[in-house]
Order: sequence, then C-alpha cells, then structure tokens
Amino acid sequence: MQTELSKKLGVEHALFGFTPFPAVVAAISRAGGFGVLGAVRYTAPDDLKRDLDWIEAHVDGMPYGLDVVMPAKKVEGVTEADVEAMIPEGHRQYVKDTLAKYGVPELAEGEASGWRITGWMEQVARNQLDVAFDYPIKLLANALGSPPADVIQRAHDQNVLVAALAGSARHARKHAEAGIDIVVAQGYEAGGHTGDIASMVLTPEVVEAVAPLPVLAAGGIGSGQQMAAALTLGAQGVWLGSIWLTVTEADMHSRALTRKLLAAGSGDTVRSRALTGKPARQLRTEWTDAWDDPNGPGTLPMPLQGLLVADAVSRIQRHEVEPLLGTPVGQIVGRMNSERSVQEVVDDLTRDFEKAVDRLNRIAGRSPE
Ligand SMILES: Cc1cc2nc3c(=O)[nH]c(=O)nc-3n(C[C@H](O)[C@H](O)[C@H](O)COP(=O)(O)O)c2cc1C
Repeated sequence: MQTELSKKLGVEHALFGFTPFPAVVAAISRAGGFGVLGAVRYTAPDDLKRDLDWIEAHVDGMPYGLDVVMPAKKVEGVTEADVEAMIPEGHRQYVKDTLAKYGVPELAEGEASGWRITGWMEQVARNQLDVAFDYPIKLLANALGSPPADVIQRAHDQNVLVAALAGSARHARKHAEAGIDIVVAQGYEAGGHTGDIASMVLTPEVVEAVAPLPVLAAGGIGSGQQMAAALTLGAQGVWLGSIWLTVTEADMHSRALTRKLLAAGSGDTVRSRALTGKPARQLRTEWTDAWDDPNGPGTLPMPLQGLLVADAVSRIQRHEVEPLLGTPVGQIVGRMNSERSVQEVVDDLTRDFEKAVDRLNRIAGRSPE
C-alpha cells in the first residue's frame, strides 16, 4: 500500500497510527506503518524523554512521529488556579453528587489525577517539542489548528514534516495557507474531538480544497475495505486512532475498560462535551448521560469542564466504576471485538485492502474472475 507520501517517509504501508502508548507506536512502525505518539499527557519533559528513549530502542530504526496539542488561541498567563476560580459551585456539587450516587471512592493519598489543563497550554507543548526535536522524529502533528509559524519553520529546518488535523475544508485551507505539509481530514465518526462532517463527505472535500497537499483520511477506519475507500476518495493514506486501544501492546490500565470496548457496538459512542467542554466522541456511559441530561447543569466551556472533571475521571478509572467508565473512541469500536497484536491488525488491514482492490478491479473488468 504505497503512495507518494509513504514513499517519502520510507514506510511500507500508507497507514498512520495515533496512540498514547509508546509500545504501540514502536509496534506500528515495526509492522511497516507509521506510529505517532500522542504527547498531550506529558507535562514533565523527562517523562517524554524516557518514552522517546524507549521507542528509539524498540523501533528498529523505522520512522515515527509525535502529536502535540498546541491551541490555536494562546492561554498563556492563565494559571490552573485562575481557571479553578471560574468554576461555579453548582457544577462542583453536581460532580460530588454524581460520584456519591455511584459510591466512587477517593484517590489514595498522594495519587495524582491524570488529566490536567497544563497539557493544553502552548508552553507545555513547546517544552515537549524541545525534547522531541532531539530525536529523529519524521512527523509532527498538531490536534488544535496549525502550529505557530516558528514551530513549522523549526520542523522544516530539521526535515520534519508537519501535519494538522482538520474537520472541515475551511480548516484544511487555513492549514495549507500556514505552510503545513499534510492535512489529516478527521470525520465525525472518529474518536476524540471531532467536527460534524462524516468522513465520506469530508475526505474528498479536503482533498480538493488543499490539492496538491497530501491528505490522510481519519475517522471510522478499521478495515482494509475502509482503507481502500479512503484512498479511492483521494487520500494518500489513512490515520487510525481507536483501533489501537484494544491491541495487546496497549497499556489501558483497566481490564474492565478493555472489556467494555470489546463488547461495544458502533452505536455505543456519543459526541459529548463531558470530558473537555468541546465535542469529543467517546463511549456513551452513565457519566456522559449525566452531563448531557437536560435536568443537570450541563457542561462548561473548555478548559473549565476538563478541570472540573479531572479528579472525578481519575477516580472512576482508578476504581473501575463500570457504569461510569469510558474513554474517547470512535464508531469503529463496533469492529474492535477481539484483542490482537499490532502486527495482526496491520496484517488484517493490508490483506483486506488487497482483497478490496482486487474486487474493484474485477468490477471494473480489469482482471479475470
Ligand atoms: C483515545 C483517543 C485519544 C485521542 N487523542 C488525540 C490527541 O491527543 N491528539 C490528536 O491529534 N488526536 C487525538 N485523537 C484522534 C486521533 O488522532 C484520530 O484522528 C482518530 O482516532 C481517528 O479516528 P478513529 O478513532 O475512527 O480511528 C484521539 C483518539 C482517541 C481514540
């Protein structure tokens, strides 16, 4: 599965994998794809350094990249305490009441809550980049808008390609004007923050909007047939996120959550503001229902909502409180029904891709029955 872009990056398959887990990054790249490490959770540069060292030691010299969350709007000069002070008391009480209703225990003494607002601040992303540019990364992706001009320049000076996610043709055009190299067109079906246009409509719109820039199709891809469809729509490759959550190399920290993902159908996700204040697709749970309940207080805007629920989400995960336990994941969760290794996933994807292409060739009368 070779395109101009995969050749340029020196990978066997035009198959990009976003994942927060270093072991999965290395395994995707070793399997002939292109692994991309999600860096948002690394608020301490030394932790990122440790995990990039690990990837370097396990990737067998294959290329890989980094994904940061650099906000388009600066939130510099605002501390967590400033944001905390903006949270209404009624919302805090709603969190307490909901946790009490399900008997969710406290975190142990000294146990830190996982998600912090700082991961979304430009300075934190810049610190991550200071670390990452010391490693031979081949791609830098940004989740929220185009990276600032100096970051794009710095990447280009080091021969690192720059990608940015887009949920509409308008966003994609902005990225192209900013001088990035690759647009990831991410449809409504995707796990995580999404816009409201489905991949089937979005991919060709973005391809046309930014031609000749290469486009990767993201959102709702979990089979070789879907990969073939994305390439047919003009993409130069595919960008998969959800599918890696249930691979054997993934470090999910919760068997209960893995079981929930394996059991979920494609209708079991919801695009909710419950996690961060912006619409993000995730497993539908009694926690997301509580925030989407018209009789509740509703969600707060980003970044208030994220800070409001950070401790609660950590408590739910730590104690595996099943009805409330969730994660960002896309509609493709309906196909994630067994635990496979990354190599098995890549083998299945590429084999079914070839089958799909053969089928189309037969339909087009280009090869014998
Ligand atoms: C658990 C999870 C976390 C994600 N976090 C990020 C992120 O930090 N940055 C980002 O650019 N995309 C993030 N995404 C979106 C992925 O990069 C990707 O675009 C998306 O998963 C593709 O759609 P799919 O879920 O249908 O494969 C996340 C997705 C998931 C499932």
